[in-house]
Amino acid sequence: MYKYYCYNAISDVGLGNLTYDYVPVSDAKDADGILVRSAGLHDMEFGKNLKVIARAGAGVNNIPLDRCAEEGIVVFNTPGANANGVKELVIAGMLLASRDIVGGINWVQENEEDGNIAKEAEKAKKKFAGCELEGKKLGVIGLGAIGVLVANAATNLGMDVYGYDPYVSVDSAWKLSRSVRHARSVDEIYSECDYITIHVPALDSTKGMIDANAVGLMKQGVVVLNFARDILVNSEAIVDALVSGKVKHYVTDFPTPEIAGVKGAIVIPHLGASTEEAEDNCAKMAVKEMRNYLEYGNIKNSVNYPNCDMGHPGENKRITILHQNIPNMIGQFSNVLSKDNMNIADMTNKSKGGYAYTMIDVDSDIPKTVTNDLLGIKGVLRVRILN
Ligand code: MLT
Repeated sequence: MYKYYCYNAISDVGLGNLTYDYVPVSDAKDADGILVRSAGLHDMEFGKNLKVIARAGAGVNNIPLDRCAEEGIVVFNTPGANANGVKELVIAGMLLASRDIVGGINWVQENEEDGNIAKEAEKAKKKFAGCELEGKKLGVIGLGAIGVLVANAATNLGMDVYGYDPYVSVDSAWKLSRSVRHARSVDEIYSECDYITIHVPALDSTKGMIDANAVGLMKQGVVVLNFARDILVNSEAIVDALVSGKVKHYVTDFPTPEIAGVKGAIVIPHLGASTEEAEDNCAKMAVKEMRNYLEYGNIKNSVNYPNCDMGHPGENKRITILHQNIPNMIGQFSNVLSKDNMNIADMTNKSKGGYAYTMIDVDSDIPKTVTNDLLGIKGVLRVRILN
């Protein structure tokens, strides 16, 4: 029996994939697994049984990743599951920045009682005119699941697209349209592009990357789009740039007191992934990841532990060990197993940064003492025996 707790509403389409042996609990402290969307978990004390947190979404800045790793809790996200929803809103954001669609709609609402509205509209409309996207230069910073979709969609709209990502994955590179130009530096994006959209994770290294220097390199009247995370853009720099007119529009999916109401800011209440399809996809992926880990110990799409997949253990018994990435761990594990005369049928060890994961399949029963013997090894953070 596995106990799970949902922070936020998680789509029933995903929860429907939980089998009868998964039971919801009313206190997160009792859970083996947590499913979460945007609830902040930084101040939360985790229960001793908690083994997995699956974030239905891409960003994981609401979860204390290092603390989870240290407590033997594997954190997953759902890369790509909501990418199409976000991509569509980014395209909408570019259109909203190019033509005063909102101003025009507001004008109609303000004049709804006017019996002469059709004629008046023809006079008023020049106030809301704009420009087209076709032929404009778009810079995409970050070519992960969302960045690639945005870049490809923009080429289909006839934009001249520049992509920048020093860490682009092979998978993303395959998916990227050949029409997207390779920018050799982020400065090239800043200095060349009419529209600049950021699709990088919120990390210490990316925090405030759009600052006064970056804005200084940009073209006069540029449009900046941020559907990734608010902290990527320095508030003071962007507000100053809007006030001076250097940045014509800042389209952001993250309302903050600093940006809401500033002229030129187009602020959306974090709707990028708020589509039925994205919510269903994220929930399905999060549930699948949680189940694969709880039932088989397999890790796919973790953000604090390495990916590691040994499929189904078949007739074997499985031992999984989360540990620090330090020397001589495998030797010590095999000493424990050989002491009890256990035969290793299969084994994998992977590491990610300071943490590592070892999965061992043995073809005999596992004595009860093994868990404590393994936990006694310095650097071992959690041991699970899966039968
Ligand atoms: C994400 O991180 O996936 C998006 O910002 C949407 C969300 O937070 O749910």
